[in-house]
Amino acid sequence: MYAERIVSGMRPTGALHLGHYHGVLLNWVKLQHEYPCLFFVADWHALTTQYDAPEAIQKSALEMVVDWLAAGLDPDRATLFVQSHVPEHAELHLLLSMMTPLGWLERVPTYKEQQEKLAGKDLSTYGFLGYPLLMSADILIYRADRVPVGEDQIPHIEFTREIARRFNHLYGREPGFEEKAREAVRKLGGKRARLYDELRTRFQQEGEKEAVEQAHALLEEIQHLPVADRERLFGYLEGTGKMILVEPEALLTEAARMPGLDGAKMSKSYGNFIALREPADAVTKKIRAMPTDPARVRRTDPGDPQKCPVWPLHQIYSDEACRAWVKTGCQSAGIGCVDCKQPVIDGILKEQAPLRERAEYYQDNPALVRDILNDGCAKARELARETLRDVREAMGV
Ligand code: TRP
Ligand code: SF4
Repeated sequence: MYAERIVSGMRPTGALHLGHYHGVLLNWVKLQHEYPCLFFVADWHALTTQYDAPEAIQKSALEMVVDWLAAGLDPDRATLFVQSHVPEHAELHLLLSMMTPLGWLERVPTYKEQQEKLAGKDLSTYGFLGYPLLMSADILIYRADRVPVGEDQIPHIEFTREIARRFNHLYGREPGFEEKAREAVRKLGGKRARLYDELRTRFQQEGEKEAVEQAHALLEEIQHLPVADRERLFGYLEGTGKMILVEPEALLTEAARMPGLDGAKMSKSYGNFIALREPADAVTKKIRAMPTDPARVRRTDPGDPQKCPVWPLHQIYSDEACRAWVKTGCQSAGIGCVDCKQPVIDGILKEQAPLRERAEYYQDNPALVRDILNDGCAKARELARETLRDVREAMGV
């Protein structure tokens, strides 16, 4: 398998909680071992809805990066940066805006949904309408193949694919494309040219997606392939024009199975969360205060774990034996709720221990965090500039 590139962003919401950890972050940590990854703080995205209160955004951004590092994102593996430090995103956004039909933006489901949800705020702004396109620019500028996102973001990835397709269609056409593509194939040299043609035929005749992937891998390997030829060869595999922007695929992040303190999904806005770096005594207090099966009024009343919000936490933090102990103990009133909650408290504290240690290290060395972000920014800009150069050229700017 060839090295696909992954990109994803997160809005800065301040300190993250265990729901983010079990949902998004553990997934990112896993991905960084499998693919080249770029992860960024989407601070401009935060401005699309928080334009009236920008003060908190930058502080939240840094806190969030400390949480990323605490969770195990490794700056030697993944490229970590802040969106607004890579102004190329903005230029691509601008250039793409020229060819983006208004109707496409108005039809993105989150547009109406969020306006209704945040009814107290005026979101009839240019920036908010264009937010999905900004996200497209974030992705397309790195020619990312895969984008890990939650279900709510899937329409944005579909939108991004349509933008890439439209861009390639508008700016990838050239007179004599077929001949120029054939010439580029010939220049690959005997063995490579034959393999390319074979893979192209396999795709065009049998629709084999794998053949396209193999051809991409073949082309990725070649050093010093001129940009124009590269775009022709990529485009010629599937169509009749240059492929300048790459259509990304969504990599659906499984919904966080992390329940909140009240049994509902853990969320900052519900106030039912435990922060990633919540102090140990606060964790203990929060779990002790959790509601339990209402049938257990007294210690001697039997209960049913199925009716208790502590039970889902046992699914995450306890082993089989402990869960059996909870089940029997609860149904027979053999154990009290305080006893029952202790293994959950222990489980969370154990999970948090290494996170807390790493977070402290970075908090005590803010210069280190800044260096990590600067390095990440430099790496990201290098890739971004390359794409932007090709886009400018294609648009004749
Ligand atoms: N829109 C995403 C969200 O609100 C964050 C985001 C911005 C993003 N740009 C991105 C995610 C690019 C993936 C890729 O959650
Ligand atoms: Fe919930 Fe445990 Fe109490 Fe049963 S014993 S009600 S599962 S906290």
